[in-house]
Amino acid sequence: MSVLSSMKKGLLLCLFFVFSLCLLSAWPRGFQALTAVNPSTFYNLRSSRNVTILLWYWPFGRSFSLKGDVCWDLYRIPRCRLVDQRSLFPSADVVVFHSRELVQGQQKLPFDLPRPQGQRWAWMSLEAPVYNGNLEQYANIFNMTITYRRDADVTVPYGELLPKEAEGHLVENTPLNKSSLVCWVVSNYRSHHKRSQVYHELIATVPVRVYGHWTRTPLSSRALLPTISHCYFYLAFENSISKDYITEKLWRNAYQGGAVPVVLGAPLPDYKAVAPPNSFIHVDEFASIKDLGKFLQQLAEDDKRYREYFTWKHQWKVKLYTDWRERLCKICSQYNSLPQQKVYTDLKAWVKVNNT
Ligand SMILES: *[C@@H]1O[C@H](CO)[C@@H](O)[C@H](O)[C@H]1NC(C)=O
Ligand SMILES: *[C@@H]1O[C@H](CO)[C@@H](O)[C@H](O)[C@H]1NC(C)=O
Ligand SMILES: *[C@@H]1O[C@H](CO)[C@@H](O)[C@H](O)[C@H]1NC(C)=O
Repeated sequence: MSVLSSMKKGLLLCLFFVFSLCLLSAWPRGFQALTAVNPSTFYNLRSSRNVTILLWYWPFGRSFSLKGDVCWDLYRIPRCRLVDQRSLFPSADVVVFHSRELVQGQQKLPFDLPRPQGQRWAWMSLEAPVYNGNLEQYANIFNMTITYRRDADVTVPYGELLPKEAEGHLVENTPLNKSSLVCWVVSNYRSHHKRSQVYHELIATVPVRVYGHWTRTPLSSRALLPTISHCYFYLAFENSISKDYITEKLWRNAYQGGAVPVVLGAPLPDYKAVAPPNSFIHVDEFASIKDLGKFLQQLAEDDKRYREYFTWKHQWKVKLYTDWRERLCKICSQYNSLPQQKVYTDLKAWVKVNNT
């Protein structure tokens, strides 16, 4: 009995010993195996190394300095190596292609190079769909999209509102000093644009002061915001009616200029998703343009109600995005939540989706 039990003990001890030895000898290989099967360990590993973003060429041929640790130095985004040397292709995690130069034939995709496993190719554009040209030939090539759209893999809006750290003091009782009811700044007038039709209907009800290349009163970029500040309302009319296409006309011209934006472009829910209530007036909220005109007139005459359109400024501040480097660095912030595997089988359809 006792001989048997001590034999058992010995056997167990022996087994334990062998097992430990096995573990020890297998350790270095085991760690790697573990990282390959355990997604969370894999995630941590990925997030603690540098992500390399290779910009294949600069949009519109204008380059910017990438000296130093750009993403950290300028935007406090860590572990992001932003480069533009094509020789780094083999080690790039993401290679970015700006759409316009591809579509216009000034640049080509590097099909001649062996595409490393796991490398993602990104299609980048800030244009509304109609200005993206023919994307038919780009099926089954790209793994990610970088656009202003909220459903892109990396969303790079023209601007956004960020919460203010401290509640700001407001301009509550400063005189308004407005000299025009409605202002419109238009450089690219096309009579077929929906905005041109709305403008012509609107001037039947209210006066609209028009500036821009199209008129006899062009505006320098320095005069833009001070001019808008003297208007009660600014027509932030986009040249394209497309999903999420909300440009600096809202973020900069209206919000920073200090006029209440009257918006036309993306559908109302798209604006509601990114802009606070009572900070803009959407053309679609009115049964007719005549109703819109009457509403603007009444609002301008009601000081208290008009000022309510600026209360959002207590809590929010405008952030504009104008630098390609900031947009590219943003890829790194999103990198770990990108799907492991994704291919845009029909980029053209994706770009055109939900557009009216
Ligand atoms: C990550 O990239 C930055 C910027 O290029 C560089 O300074 C740093 O040494 C890199 N770190 C690693 C671990 O490769
Ligand atoms: C109102 O704006 C005009 C034009 O910029 C300026 O000359 C004037 O001083 C302003 N008045 C007040 C009270 O701010
Ligand atoms: C990227 O797209 C290509 C198809 O062009 C595909 O072979 C590759 O697996 C994709 N990679 C990722 C990480 O999704």
